[in-house]
Parts: sequence; C-alpha cells; structure tokens
Amino acid sequence: MGMGLDMKKLHVALGERSYDLLIGDGILSEPLTAAAAFAPAAERAALVCDETVWSLYGQLASDSLRGAGLPSEPILVPPGEGSKSIEQLSYLYERFAEMGLTRGGLVVALGGGVTGDLAGFAAATWMRGVGLVQIPTTLLAQVDSSVGGKTAIDIGAGKNLVGAFHQPRLVVIDPLVLKTLPPREYAAGMAEVIKYGAIASPALFGQLESGRPGGDIADIIHECCRIKRDVVIEDEFDTGLRMTLNFGHTFGHAIETKYGYGRYNHGEAVAGGMRIAARVGEMLGVTEAGTEERISRLLSRYDLDVRENTDGLISIMKRDKKAAGAGVNLVLLKNIGEATIKYVEYAALEKVDVI
Ligand SMILES: NC(=O)c1ccc[n+]([C@@H]2O[C@H](COP(=O)([O-])OP(=O)(O)OC[C@H]3O[C@@H](n4cnc5c(N)ncnc54)[C@H](O)[C@@H]3O)[C@@H](O)[C@H]2O)c1
Ligand SMILES: [Zn+2]
Repeated sequence: MGMGLDMKKLHVALGERSYDLLIGDGILSEPLTAAAAFAPAAERAALVCDETVWSLYGQLASDSLRGAGLPSEPILVPPGEGSKSIEQLSYLYERFAEMGLTRGGLVVALGGGVTGDLAGFAAATWMRGVGLVQIPTTLLAQVDSSVGGKTAIDIGAGKNLVGAFHQPRLVVIDPLVLKTLPPREYAAGMAEVIKYGAIASPALFGQLESGRPGGDIADIIHECCRIKRDVVIEDEFDTGLRMTLNFGHTFGHAIETKYGYGRYNHGEAVAGGMRIAARVGEMLGVTEAGTEERISRLLSRYDLDVRENTDGLISIMKRDKKAAGAGVNLVLLKNIGEATIKYVEYAALEKVDVI
C-alpha cells in the first residue's frame, strides 16, 4: 500500500480460514497487493459486479487489481435483489468455465450485499470452493454482509434459502465509494450501524448521538467490523452468540413480509423492528427504562422514521417456520450496549405500540 494512506487492519482469527479486513479512504486507488497473494500468477480473477457499480467503480477496481499484478475478467449482473437467483448463479458458473477458473482461482465481489452474497456462493461452490475477496461498496455491505462468510441466493420459497458458509480471504473497504450511494441506501446501512451500537457498543451509540451525521464514517465502519469480527470469531457457524446480530430483525423481517418487500428496504424494516424490540424489552422489564426513547431518537436522526406496531406482525411471525410454538426467541437489550436472548410468548406481543 502507498505511503500516507491511513489504512486500518482488523484480523479475523478463524484458524485456517483467518483473514484481514483492510479499511481506508482511497484504498482502491492504490495497487491491491494484498489480494494478489491469493491467485496464481498465471490466472485472471473473476471480478463479479452489478452494472451500476461497474459503471462507477469497475475501472478503479480492475486497475487496483492490475496494479498488483492481478488481471481480472469482469462478470456483470443486473443491479438488485433479483440477481441473487439460480439464473445469475448459473450465468456465473458458465463464465467461470469459459475463463478457465481453476481450484486455485480467485473470485472478487465488487458491490453491495447482493453481489457479495451471489459471488460468494458461486465461489463457495465452484470446484468445491475457490478463494474469495470482498470489495463491499454499500454501507450495509461494508459493516455487515462482507464480513463473516455467509453467502446465499434466493429461491421462490424464500430469501437466502440456498447458501453456504464461505469465509473470504480478504475484505477491502474503501469508505470513499459511499459518496455515490443513494441517501436511502446510506440510511439503510446506518440502521445496521445503530444496531451494533445498541447490542455491543455504548461508545459507538454515543458517538452516533453526538457526532455529525456522515462524519467519521471510516472510524464508525471500523468499530462495526470489530464488533462483527468478535461475534463471528466466537460463533462462526451461527449456533448461539451470532443471533444477537439479529436485534430488530425478527420484527423487521415480519415488516418486510407484511409489505411484500415493496415499501421498506431491509434497513428501514430493521429500524421499525428495533423500535418494537426496545418497547417489548421495556414492557417485560428486561430493558432499562428510557432505552426505547434513545433508540427511537437516534433512528430518526438518521432518517429512519419507520414506526410500525405489532398488529399484523405476530401472525406473520407464527407462520415463520423458525418460530414454531407458543412464543419466539427474541434479541432484547438489557441496556444500550448489551443484548440478551429471551423466549417471549406471542400473547405478550399483541398490541405493542412504539414511540
Ligand atoms: N451475507 C450476509 O451476512 C448478509 C448480511 C446482511 C445482508 N445480506 C444481503 O445483502 C443484500 C443487500 O445488500 P445491499 O443493501 O448492499 O444491496 P445491493 O447490493 O442491492 O446494493 C444496493 C444498490 O446500491 C447500488 N450501489 C452499490 N454500491 C454503490 C455505490 N458505492 N454507489 C452507488 N450505488 C451503489 C447497487 O447497484 C444497488 O442498486 C440482501 O440480499 C441481504 O440478504 C447479507
Ligand atoms: Zn440486517
């Protein structure tokens, strides 16, 4: 990496599957020497990207790879959740075959969570698994989906139903690319950022409450990645602690389902879900009084004004196969910075109104 670039590194210690996250403004304007180590000299990397991100950052990323001695072959998919499909997956496989991507080859995912999940799953399954480098370009992908090794596509029966755990070899985060992100996508990422503060970091939460919105975003991303890293190291395969990352998500998914994925994006739905979870926690005496108000105020500060009560959500949650029985395991807060998991009966969730 060049001189004078303020780059931070986080190490994800997972034995043979260990890797680094590199975070720095302008990191993509430099040769990506750290990525070149993962591909044989003779091979080109498969650079998977959606068309929108390609037009903005395709040249930058391919130059950055080439500068490190790693030529790449672009493979483009349409933007949007619709590309997490069997059809686009099979298109990627065809292109991998055409370019002769071998066991030692490398897939680079340049884009948001859609590209990362699709390219990641293709990398997980191509020749039983090839190397993957994530270059996330949305705030959501930079703080959440590019870290931790979950990859998936959607099928008619539901989102993320076909997937694999496949840790990347490297994650390269350049916060400067967020400058072109549409405000609503930015806000959606902020919902996950606020989630990290709520479950694990009073300091981050306080910084978001007092700082200038949009200021210090590189530091904020670093703190979110540190939190996710620590959770993933403890629970790589999502059998316990990793569930706390789902704060706001059980209600959030129900909100997404209620409106057929049309009205709210994921982050907005999670914002609505966090308001409900905070209210439920206070009602049950699990969550310190005043927490709902702090969460609600902070969400509004970042243009996340979704307020839904539980009407119509409980029946959706009951239908969800993961929530069989008379109640559901919910991630609730003890206070800002500390999460816990509680089994709550559906009867206690009827008619919950948020502030
Ligand atoms: N694997 C995981 O752990 C995990 C975690 C959370 C979410 N996800 C998945 O992530 C997906 C959502 O990701 P997303 O919100 O990043 O959506 P996305 O990848 O669709 O990106 C959102 C939009 O922003 C555009 N875009 C991306 N970067 C841009 C930039 N820098 N400037 C301008 N436009 C840009 C894209 O073209 C797209 O239209 C969902 O499918 C979700 O299931 C996965
Ligand atoms: Zn989420």
